[in-house]
Amino acid sequence: MQVQGKPYRSLWLAANGRDVECIDQTRLPHNFVVAEISTAEDAMEAIRDMWVRGAPLIGAMAAYGVCLGLHESCTEEHLHQICEKLIACRPTAVNLQWAVDRMQRKLLSVETSQWLEVGYKEAANICDEDVEANESLGSHGAAVIQEIWEKKGKSEPVHILTHCNAGWLATVDWGTALAPVYKAQQLGIPVHVWVDETRPRNQGAHLTAWELCMAGIDHHLIVDNVGGHLMQHGKVDMCIVGTDRTAANGDVCNKIGTYLKALAAKDNNIPFYVALPGSTIDWQMQEGLSIPIEIRDEEEVLFVQGQFCDGRVDTICIAPEGTPAANYAFDVTPARLVTGLITERGICSASKEGLLGLYPEHLE
Ligand code: MRU
Repeated sequence: MQVQGKPYRSLWLAANGRDVECIDQTRLPHNFVVAEISTAEDAMEAIRDMWVRGAPLIGAMAAYGVCLGLHESCTEEHLHQICEKLIACRPTAVNLQWAVDRMQRKLLSVETSQWLEVGYKEAANICDEDVEANESLGSHGAAVIQEIWEKKGKSEPVHILTHCNAGWLATVDWGTALAPVYKAQQLGIPVHVWVDETRPRNQGAHLTAWELCMAGIDHHLIVDNVGGHLMQHGKVDMCIVGTDRTAANGDVCNKIGTYLKALAAKDNNIPFYVALPGSTIDWQMQEGLSIPIEIRDEEEVLFVQGQFCDGRVDTICIAPEGTPAANYAFDVTPARLVTGLITERGICSASKEGLLGLYPEHLE
């Protein structure tokens, strides 16, 4: 995607062919800063502290984190240690484990003398495949947007509500929930996006709004509790969200608050779609409620980051001193509330049968 007319991915290999560079998402929207990642520890910090975030992107960063770790030592023991530490950085998004396992399998299939070369190649493949999958799911999702637009008599834009940031910043490129929006824009379909601010870290306000500004897509930022009201008043045509882990039965685990949006959409008969590349499906996880939910530092709830009128960016406390906070980062939306799963292979029902229909290689 473009930033001020220049094409970017969220993460890329540095010019020296060894290090990794990424957009530091903790600095957006007020500052566009590129972070240098030179060691496996740097990659872990970037994932833990959310310089990079979003399920597919943390998988991609972890893949390069493995490569950076190999510069310290190419032994099986060291590889296992690095992989274990990377996986432990964030527990909910399955892409992290998926990417690290894939790297480990690939490396263990060749001689240690080839590890660096093969590792970097595999990490690049993970990135390129993510871009390809997201672009493809974007086209499938855009077809749904087009259908809704035609049903509305092409009279006015399609109003889409999204939660958190599932745009290109959450992936290597294109995004998941926003890929259909970008594709619809390319097709000339007018879209308008309702952007949930997504407390506590405000990925909607900081990242989705920034992406849509960059792309010139019509949008409004709303606080997290507005969605239900808008739905009751016919101001939302569809919801599209991402998922950090999709269970084999079609339950989806996404940013905290997604479940409430799905309930409101169901009550108002509004289609609720979830967009995902296949790497987000956990075939071993039989149902969503078994997915480990990340609980993050309470400071993220107690403090808010913003820009003062003089341009200074800082964090301020919004609660009385001594008030404890609980910071659950994800929730589970049961499959019965999901209209369809938009994948790179097409759209399916949120069910075991639906998923296996698109991914028959996982039939037992
Ligand atoms: O905590 P985050 O910002 O990593 O959470 C991200 C989300 O919840 C996204 O919706 C999810 O990763 C799917 S989008 C690619």
